[in-house]
Amino acid sequence: MDDVKGMQIRTAVLPVAGLGTRFLPATKAQPKEMLPIVDKPLVQYAVEEVAASGIPMVIFVTGRGKEAIENHFDVSFELEHQLAGRGKEDLRSLVRSIAGLLKVSYVRQQQARGLGDAILTAQGLVGNEPFAVVLSDDVVDASTPCLRQMMEVYARYGRSVVAIQRVDRRRASNYGIIRGILEPDRHGDGRVFRIQDMVEKPSPAKAPSNLAIIGRYILTPGIFHELAATRPGAGGEVQLTDAMRRLLKREPIYGYEFEGRRFDAGDKLGFLKATVELALKRPDLGSEFRKYLKSLDLS
Ligand code: UTP
Repeated sequence: MDDVKGMQIRTAVLPVAGLGTRFLPATKAQPKEMLPIVDKPLVQYAVEEVAASGIPMVIFVTGRGKEAIENHFDVSFELEHQLAGRGKEDLRSLVRSIAGLLKVSYVRQQQARGLGDAILTAQGLVGNEPFAVVLSDDVVDASTPCLRQMMEVYARYGRSVVAIQRVDRRRASNYGIIRGILEPDRHGDGRVFRIQDMVEKPSPAKAPSNLAIIGRYILTPGIFHELAATRPGAGGEVQLTDAMRRLLKREPIYGYEFEGRRFDAGDKLGFLKATVELALKRPDLGSEFRKYLKSLDLS
């Protein structure tokens, strides 16, 4: 267990094999992760966060019908050739830059058996070292990338770290909720909790706190052993939260209340909020879009 302390985070696992049922019919024939916020697919926001955090490699856990994601991060000679032929050099280099963001590998999850099962599928590529997990539904807008902030906590403690956010208790049943003890300030900046327990999607009455786990994790490789031993739980899926509960019996796990704004883009309302707020921040669109929003009669 202690031998992973001090190891660099070299890999981020991006599970993208889910069915995306909340976004049907848009996701009938295209992956949810390719839905664009303004002009960039969700999954590209995630990959850019990984790259900006200094992690050199991404492992996508893909599944049936997710080929568009592989194509998006590959070189597209045909498209580049056509753009160059039309003198659109800026678009050509934009398209090329996506393929060069970082080193990418793919592994397939045969059936959507849950997030826990998706992560276990990546074990062979990750190996015996700590790694990050990023769920691209959660788009985080932050001046220091969320994952980077978490890596600093990992560097301090050498243990698994999950990103947490305070939520309205009435919405607890949408999340994994932790029970934790705030680390003394000189260690944890008032943002780090040592987790005592966690529960997946509790009713508001049973929620142990309002501290919800969101889609960013740094996990020690011990999680693989626990995932392999975890039976399907809620919804017949292997739940990552169940495996982390098991890991908690062997190792400490920390919750980190990150700095930044998170959008649940896997949900329709969250997706709309992300679209509006990120569009308003765009230098090329923001001021026109603001004018347009102000012109709407919202009474
Ligand atoms: P979600 O539960 O948010 O995604 O899983 P989903 O199942 O695709 O969407 P809904 O709930 O039906 O609308 C979080 C992440 O885990 C991946 C998803 O692709 C998403 O990025 N995932 C989920 C897998 O890779 N495999 C699974 O079996 C389940």
